Amino acid sequence: MNNPLQLSLVNFKKGAYIIVEGKQKADCFYIIRSGKVSISKEVEVVEEEGGNILAPGDFFGVVSTMSSHSHIETAQAITDVTLIAVRREQYGLLIERNAPVAMKIIQQFSKKMRYLDAALARLTLKSGDSEDIAHLFRVAEYYARQSQYNLAYYAYHQYIVNSPRGQNVNLAKERMAKIQPYAKAVYLDIQGEEFTRSYPKNTMIFSEAQPGKEMYIIQKGSVKITKIQNDNEVMLALLKAGDMFGEMSLLEDKPRSASAIAHEDTVLMAVNKANFTRMVSNQPQLISKLTQILSERIWFIYKQLANTQLSDPVGRLYDALLIQLEKLRIPISSEAYTFDLGPRELGNMVGLPKEELNLVLQKLFQNSKVKIVDNHVYVSDIEEIEKQAKYYRKMEKIEKARRQGSMNLRK
Ligand code: CMP
Repeated sequence: MNNPLQLSLVNFKKGAYIIVEGKQKADCFYIIRSGKVSISKEVEVVEEEGGNILAPGDFFGVVSTMSSHSHIETAQAITDVTLIAVRREQYGLLIERNAPVAMKIIQQFSKKMRYLDAALARLTLKSGDSEDIAHLFRVAEYYARQSQYNLAYYAYHQYIVNSPRGQNVNLAKERMAKIQPYAKAVYLDIQGEEFTRSYPKNTMIFSEAQPGKEMYIIQKGSVKITKIQNDNEVMLALLKAGDMFGEMSLLEDKPRSASAIAHEDTVLMAVNKANFTRMVSNQPQLISKLTQILSERIWFIYKQLANTQLSDPVGRLYDALLIQLEKLRIPISSEAYTFDLGPRELGNMVGLPKEELNLVLQKLFQNSKVKIVDNHVYVSDIEEIEKQAKYYRKMEKIEKARRQGSMNLRK
């Protein structure tokens, strides 16, 4: 039997606040039917693509609703508006009835992810674009230097295939010949239509900067998503069975934004464009899951970006710890908690250079409730993290207002 999709229409008067940043429990998002809505964020970290004024057909509130986190933006009606409210549990049905809406949402998310990734890399690592094909050679060189020959071999190969006239092709060929005896790489070039693929631990599924036309669903094992920036490997995520990745190239016809490496022996199901289009209409639950995954990633990266705006490095560490707690949905209570993070990883997360890390950690550990136990960050009272992070966020706001005030006075 067909369930009817009953979406409700809601009206807001000009000037009304529709959603407010930081408010918990987003349970529905909105599609604009008529009128205009402005979107703003407390910390304007990046210039939003497409501007901040939304018109009929546009949507907002999807990230927080689909990830079940707090709102990451404020929406205000700038004319009288009529909105279509979509509750989280109605999303699957919406896709079934209206596949183009789902495609529009996913495509916009993918674009958003790409420029947020780039903004984060710029702000934390002060490094530039890595989409050009020559970056493949840098990826290969990095892994060769780390004696990770499986990964290097794959990336050299991709560089040669995708940039046959590149200035380092001869060098890449020499290096490949040298490391070949030690390198294991599967599926150097994908041909044919096999959709289930097995990757042994520590082999590359694809490299950052190579062209890509498929996305993957992890059936078994786990996959590391990494980027090479300024000659450092940055881990963006560790994905498990049921997770999906590689959707950005598939949706946007752009090079891979990061590398995917089998972290254990891994089995993947590959989905090409034709199958993806079929999935959108036949398997709404998968598209719903993909929207949820993308929403969680975008929520997380927004928080990381806001973190970069805190000028006090100790404040950034507290804030990063609070983001972890929120991400994992750990309730804020007076209990103890051990983070799945060592001090070095914590420093990496907020882009602290190695030289500064020790001094900043010393300051952090002046708080007797925060310690290192077995190379993991431990707090004896979770509430303390929230209290400190909020304190530093507030001080930043006051400082910002003061700076703006003195600038205005000078005018
Ligand atoms: P694609 O660009 O095709 O290849 C790399 C993939 O890594 C990308 O698609 C996403 O699926 C995934 N990815 C990119 N950025 C992140 C991130 N910040 N967190 C988790 N996964 C990511």
